[in-house]
Amino acid sequence: MSLPAPDAETLRQQLTQALTPAAREVLALAIERAAALQLPLYLVGGPVRDALLGLPIVELDLVVEGDAWLLAEALASATDGRLTQHAAFRTATVALEHQGQPLTIDVVTARRERYPAPAALPIVEPATIQEDLARRDFTINTLALRLLPDGDVVLLDPFNGREDLARRRLRVLHDASFEDDPTRILRAARFVARLELAVVPHTRRLIDAAVRQELLLRTSPPRLLNEIWLLLDEPAPERALALLHTWNALPQLGLSWSPSIFTTFPAARRSLAPQLLPQVYLALLWLAMTPAARQAFGERYNLPAWARTLARELPQLLALPLDRPLDAVALEALLRRFPVALLHALALSSPATIQANLRRYLDEIRPLPPLLSGEELRALGIAPGPTYGRILRALRQAQLSGMITTRDEALAWLERLRDDEHAGSCYDPSRHSEV
Ligand code: CTP
Repeated sequence: MSLPAPDAETLRQQLTQALTPAAREVLALAIERAAALQLPLYLVGGPVRDALLGLPIVELDLVVEGDAWLLAEALASATDGRLTQHAAFRTATVALEHQGQPLTIDVVTARRERYPAPAALPIVEPATIQEDLARRDFTINTLALRLLPDGDVVLLDPFNGREDLARRRLRVLHDASFEDDPTRILRAARFVARLELAVVPHTRRLIDAAVRQELLLRTSPPRLLNEIWLLLDEPAPERALALLHTWNALPQLGLSWSPSIFTTFPAARRSLAPQLLPQVYLALLWLAMTPAARQAFGERYNLPAWARTLARELPQLLALPLDRPLDAVALEALLRRFPVALLHALALSSPATIQANLRRYLDEIRPLPPLLSGEELRALGIAPGPTYGRILRALRQAQLSGMITTRDEALAWLERLRDDEHAGSCYDPSRHSEV
């Protein structure tokens, strides 16, 4: 039994509720400009899915039947937005700020796609909205709202996506879906984990077949890496990773499974800033992998600089003698050079003593501001040179061991140091730090 079709008023309300006031205004502007350009306009895929689920719309995905660049250019100039045009599929993105809020709008030309070979990029041609919906991954992503110039909305749902959404089911549109685009295996895991869906049995069989054929090994590493980043940006990536493990897909991505991420990932979320999480998740995954598997991952993917740094530093960090109590001076000397994401990841996945050392460094030592800076030494008339480093290191040691705790004490210490130097004594900051 299929769901009764929602009336236009209910749809309009769901859409309005899912949009921020700023996004609502920008969407109204898009409707007006598309009408002026005589381009049929649709809100498609993710935003419609999320609006029907009562979730906030985070990105406006617009499709026009006709030239998307015309609408994107008009929108960018009307909103003072930054326009990026991609020639390959003649798509565009407008990044703008409205009412103090950042907003991204994707504008694409309705297109049909043909895949020349499994896992290859598709050949695209302009098409109707129906054909555009038919090229998509899952039924829940084939919903579109025609946005009419008078403010009316009409739902297009050629694949019964609304019913699958209501029944929380993930289903592909056709049997070749994962062959065409194996990255959909990762997308499936992300949607199932995020929206708490169940994969229908036939789609699950298609995933199993795609994994058996090792189609992910034939997919270009940059596309896979992009999907891995999207996965690590999910609200609970460990759930998506667990699904990929169940589907036996992790080895083809160069990743290994560790049940420990069910504990460490949520613990990371509870204690760390959201922008640090993807780095910490990656480090946690790597910590659970063998050195050989880690190295293979680094060789397969063209990692960004921050990830290369994590990969390079991780073995050095693991080699440190952190399994014994260490004082603050020793901890800082050992740990200062390592990226915080790596330190957090090791803290989250280590036994008590190592964890205590790392927590102490991260929570107490690292945030402790230095008592004096190089600039202050200069302002105090000390000639720049290698002595700066020696003075600041000695001062830091004295600070960490609790012998000098305030700026005034630091200045007094420095005074004594200079008096001694004037008196001709040999310079030895460590001696002074011990007073
Ligand atoms: N799409 C697809 N196959 C892919 C990637 C995307 O069919 N490999 C389609 C889907 O219909 C999707 C749309 O393109 O809805 C836009 O892609 P994207 O922005 O990645 O997906 P969203 O559905 O918006 O998901 P998210 O909520 O993660 O942004």
